[in-house]
Amino acid sequence: MTDRGVNVEVLDDAEALARRAADLIEGVVREKPTLSLLVATGNTPLATYTELTRRNLDASAVTAVQLDEYLGVGEDDPRSLWGWMRRAFVEPLGVRKVIRLDATAPDPVEACRRFELEVAALGGIDLALLGLGPNGHLGFNEPPCLPDAGTRPVTLTPESLASNAAYWDGLAVPTGALTAGMDLILGARQTLLLVSGAHKRGILARTLQESPTPEVPASWLRGTNTTVLADRAAWGGL
Ligand code: PGA
Repeated sequence: MTDRGVNVEVLDDAEALARRAADLIEGVVREKPTLSLLVATGNTPLATYTELTRRNLDASAVTAVQLDEYLGVGEDDPRSLWGWMRRAFVEPLGVRKVIRLDATAPDPVEACRRFELEVAALGGIDLALLGLGPNGHLGFNEPPCLPDAGTRPVTLTPESLASNAAYWDGLAVPTGALTAGMDLILGARQTLLLVSGAHKRGILARTLQESPTPEVPASWLRGTNTTVLADRAAWGGL
């Protein structure tokens, strides 16, 4: 099924979605073992990462690129998104090369510039693996957001603060973050957007059906080489 340039696949449930996502990622890694892979945290991709670790996949030459990090949060902090990415993806898959967003750097803008240079030196992103925020964000590209927005410090919207609070069991959610830029995400040679659960139904509909708009950053994916994997709960009656 294609929706104005975006390929959409609807899977029965979250487990089927994880298997399909793992199939696609496995295929891309086997084709190009030195892949640069933009890696999301959040709840949606976790089952995909677990599924990938069950497979006999050599990801040792992959470079994993961090999608976002809370501002001021170092790797020893339990809320570190790098820590989450390391535990869920980097270590289980034996990934050895990573490009990180240094959210404790004295100059966060300079840290973003360094990150962009490192990604550019790699030749950009081969595959972006993304979840869909309840407000339509990709990474922490919060609405409103233009497609040329670079890697930068951002302030989180109330919706992101609320959804992220569920990750940290009572700990305060930092109000700022560094995010890989919309430009870098949209420049990926291939993107997989994973969308699971009835609570994503409304924002998925807006992502696919509205004209691309700063109010729904994910809508800028339209016209890029993106596959949306949605489970039936998220797809609803679309
Ligand atoms: P989720 O988060 O996978 O936990 O739903 C997605 C996001 O906020 O980008």
